[in-house]
Amino acid sequence: MRSHYCGLIDEALIDQGVAVCGWVDTVRLQSHVAFVDLRDHEGIVQIVVERESADAFAQAGSLGYEYCIRVVGKVRRRIAANEKLRSGQVEILAERVEILNKAEGLPFALHENPAEETRLKYRYLDLRTADMQRKMRLRTRLVSALRHYLDGRGFQDIETPILTKATPEGARDYLVPSRVHAGEFYALPQSPQLFKQLLMVAGFDRYYQIARCFRDEDLRADRQPEFTQLDMEFAFVAERDVQDAVEAMIRHVFAEVSAVDLGGPFPRMTYAEAMTRYGSDKPDLRIALELVDVADHVRHVEFKVFSEPANAPGGRVAALRVPGGAAFTRKQIDELGAYAARYGAKGLAWLRVDDLARRRDGINSPVLKFLDDIALDGVLAATAAQSGDLVLFGAGDWKTVSDFLGALRIKVARDLGLVENAWKPLWVVDFPMFEFDAEASRFVALHHPFTAPKIDDVADLQANAANAVSRGYDMVLNGNEIGGGSIRIHRTDMQSAVFELLGIGAQEAEAKFGFLLEALRFGAPPHGGIAFGIDRIAALMAGTESIRDVIAFPKTASAQDLMTAAPSTIPACQLAELHVAVIEPVAD
Ligand code: AMO
Ligand code: AMP
Repeated sequence: MRSHYCGLIDEALIDQGVAVCGWVDTVRLQSHVAFVDLRDHEGIVQIVVERESADAFAQAGSLGYEYCIRVVGKVRRRIAANEKLRSGQVEILAERVEILNKAEGLPFALHENPAEETRLKYRYLDLRTADMQRKMRLRTRLVSALRHYLDGRGFQDIETPILTKATPEGARDYLVPSRVHAGEFYALPQSPQLFKQLLMVAGFDRYYQIARCFRDEDLRADRQPEFTQLDMEFAFVAERDVQDAVEAMIRHVFAEVSAVDLGGPFPRMTYAEAMTRYGSDKPDLRIALELVDVADHVRHVEFKVFSEPANAPGGRVAALRVPGGAAFTRKQIDELGAYAARYGAKGLAWLRVDDLARRRDGINSPVLKFLDDIALDGVLAATAAQSGDLVLFGAGDWKTVSDFLGALRIKVARDLGLVENAWKPLWVVDFPMFEFDAEASRFVALHHPFTAPKIDDVADLQANAANAVSRGYDMVLNGNEIGGGSIRIHRTDMQSAVFELLGIGAQEAEAKFGFLLEALRFGAPPHGGIAFGIDRIAALMAGTESIRDVIAFPKTASAQDLMTAAPSTIPACQLAELHVAVIEPVAD
């Protein structure tokens, strides 16, 4: 049907006859000549139709945007070159113009940037744009570079089931009812975690899979209900073996796909340090601002908002200096308060340093009256505040304060243009093994329940569970968690003990994970691994905030596919066959 791609027509083809196919990007009709920009996935070429070619000229006159056409003609040099196009030195003088399919009036012009809802509803049109074509191609190149790298290094690509049993990764499961086993359900995998561990028990030394994972959780720009992992597992390894191997891989693909040099060995930071200095377990090191603990300076003040957490064991009082933040209006500061509230802040005390030299008189703050000179001087010194700065305070329990000041750190850095244009990878290590869930009043796993503790002895772990550190690690890039993994528990006694600490009793453990506990009894090797979020890496490479931009058919924040209108209701007869009854939601 065609001899060449539109976007690849160039000077080498001058005087040659060619046939191209594509979509009409623009048409300009003049009395004696018509110009058509014809587009395919490689790019655009200019078609010229002269009046002398009567049939072709008549056809050109009937073209509309996004008509799908075929053009036969001869390549010639263009009088006025278009340097923006790869084909910009040449054009095709059309001999024949064939309409392959008309296009009705489009819901939006491809050159506009319509609302995301419209883009998702007509995703197949949105994907025609050069920008989306570029992003999807980049994703292809990423996956292909990863595969190529791993295939050359002895990794075996092994598929694991999609219809399976629940593997907890901290989200809710998507369930699939069984027709032949009434009342029973498969779960879609939240990750291939248990299968990859069992592959190590089975003697496969190094495994990888580009695996689709399914998690029913609250969605954000960096989360989709179904997403893609590069899932990896290694036998006979310790942390550094896995980290060194995958760090080299990530460095390689960034260089190859994006010509980005991620630099020397990635720095390592403990979870405690990351939370203390950056208020995040995925710190964005492109931002120099840091949280500063000021509890020591406000322990003695009357103001209970500060003194109570400053004196309480699990409390934190910290400050964030915002350079130049004194320029914020009251409204902007109130907006920061509202933003912090979304992360659990009960309030946001602040201190505006108009003139440091005048000390108290040069400061404007709703909490100034609560701070005596010792407190004020201590806080100013600790934060190294300068005239023109704004100091924000967080007080309360350690996690909440870290979270909301960490979120504010990023927000103000973005607002003030304080994010360095750079690539800043790091490893975050030494995560706590467990987090105490106050609501459920029990421990939950910070990674997943198969992560090994640093303590090797079961009794020691049981005695020190609250402070136990895990053998988990995350790879973070520019404030995004791009990968997470760990050394696994490979002994039944330790796995049972961890289940128990997580409140999973022996019976429940047997019912849910009996196959794993059993497998660990048959000579399971020490093993560990990691999984990378392919969507997140592709989004970073593409320079976009949302992983929706690098997924061909993503879902909305409320987990809907606007194009197919999934999820949707199912006829009663089909439900009956699946032994499923729907409970109508009660309006509240
Ligand atoms: P984890 O849950 O940390 O670990 O997931 C690994 C990586 O997958 C990506 N990711 C997501 N991407 C898009 N949407 C989501 N909803 C989503 N959830 C996670 C992140 C994350 O770093 N089985 C373990 C891995 C292991 O221990 O080897 C696991 O799944 O980039
Ligand atoms: P209040 O006494 O609650 O009116 O608070 C006095 C000041 O302290 C206000 O500026 C609040 O925004 C601020 N504040 C209240 N709670 C907190 C908190 N947990 N962390 C930081 N500042 C707070």
